[in-house]
Amino acid sequence: MEFEGLSQSYTTLMRAAEEVMRRAYVPYSGFQVGAALLDSDGHVHEGCNVENAAYGPTNCAERTALFRAIADGKQAGTFKAIAVIGATEGPISPCGICRQVLVELCPPDMPVIMGNTKGDWTMTTVTELLPGAFTPSSLHKEER
Ligand code: THU
Repeated sequence: MEFEGLSQSYTTLMRAAEEVMRRAYVPYSGFQVGAALLDSDGHVHEGCNVENAAYGPTNCAERTALFRAIADGKQAGTFKAIAVIGATEGPISPCGICRQVLVELCPPDMPVIMGNTKGDWTMTTVTELLPGAFTPSSLHKEER
């Protein structure tokens, strides 16, 4: 797949997302999503969506990639970029829960590259996806 105008390194990341997308466990929606998270060592942590008969436990591709990376020993806040892909009309847009998890685990200005299987893509940042987010620092109690 050609992602016209996308840098070589982000194209590589998007292709990794496209590959893992094919491993999605989606018996209910039939909608495959893939994500590839680049870490500070240049390693790529891949994730796909994993659905459940009870629907609620479904894990999105983005969170699968993020949680895998944490389980692999990578530190929160050190990630460099994430690419996400699905067979959407335009570039896929991460859900609200994944946006909240991105805010928790990634730098605010980290690039989020969103694409589709036709080669359309767009790029934004974690903060732009969830402005005004509830963050870890929001838990610090104010003196009264
Ligand atoms: N899904 C993702 O994995 N990532 C997104 O960004 C949007 C939605 C999944 C959840 C569910 O398995 C399927 O796509 C349909 O919502």
